[in-house]
Amino acid sequence: MLDNNGKLVDRIESLKEKRRAVILAHNYQLGEVQDIADFVGDSLELSQRAAQTQAEVIIFCGVHFMAETASILSPEKAVLLPDLNAGCPMANMITAEELREKKRQLPGAAVVCYINSTAEVKAESDTCCTSANAVRVVASLDSEQILFVPDKYLGHYVSTKTEKKIYLWPGFCPTHVRILPERIIELKKDYPLARVVVHPECRPEVIALADEVLSTGGLIRYARRDEVTQMVVGTEIGIIHRLRKENPGKKFIPVSEQAVCPNMKLITLEKILWSLEEMAPEVKVPEPIRLKARAAVDRMLEAV
Ligand code: 13P
Ligand code: SF4
Repeated sequence: MLDNNGKLVDRIESLKEKRRAVILAHNYQLGEVQDIADFVGDSLELSQRAAQTQAEVIIFCGVHFMAETASILSPEKAVLLPDLNAGCPMANMITAEELREKKRQLPGAAVVCYINSTAEVKAESDTCCTSANAVRVVASLDSEQILFVPDKYLGHYVSTKTEKKIYLWPGFCPTHVRILPERIIELKKDYPLARVVVHPECRPEVIALADEVLSTGGLIRYARRDEVTQMVVGTEIGIIHRLRKENPGKKFIPVSEQAVCPNMKLITLEKILWSLEEMAPEVKVPEPIRLKARAAVDRMLEAV
């Protein structure tokens, strides 16, 4: 297996150079995929990288909305998602038509959409946000009323940090709901010295037990602090690979081994190589939608 992976990695490296490609990977990707990436990060960091890269081809190791965001920002580049089935179920919990209907019901509210959304939904929104900047983005808006879509838990977390009225859409992440407060209570007893750090997609009862609520990128930075020697980690377990690799002397305890995003795990070394060989599957957004979605993504990038 190792030998096979070694050969795959060599072939990916040489073809990547030939194609002038860059490999971007999310923190939840399989360990071997993270290890061959040029950059590993959270949604905000990945969208910033996608906007800045000089490469002609972006191999996006993540889920569909992330590749779409890269294409919205860099339409002149070929953005390849090695498996088109890698979607985000939460992003599919609201359609553009449903959002238009809700906007008609709430004409005074500014629409903030989590980046975990389709390009069509971004196109209907005033601004985007990620888990790293949601609180700041909402604070940056003039409006006192916010329609927040699609993640009710991230929206609820933001509502605890602002005086503004936040209207929630009933979406959620099927992976993060598997992280349960009972388990955190047990782990706190077993590891009294550990810091409890969770993602804002978790349930409010989980967030109430946490020392810190951070994006995946924020969690990676927090783990580097000297005072953090043990960490109970409340997010998708793919992040444990990077945490252990970057902090060999520290202990990382996932709250739930079941917190696995099956879509993130669809990207494999074999599929990355195939993508580079075939220059497919490409993710592209129709121009009229791209321009409107771009305005929402740009507003987010200006606010942070
Ligand atoms: P981050 O932006 O924090 O990496 O989160 C992305 C995501 O999909 C969490 O489930
Ligand atoms: Fe979507 Fe949840 Fe997977 Fe993140 S972990 S990509 S929110 S399903």
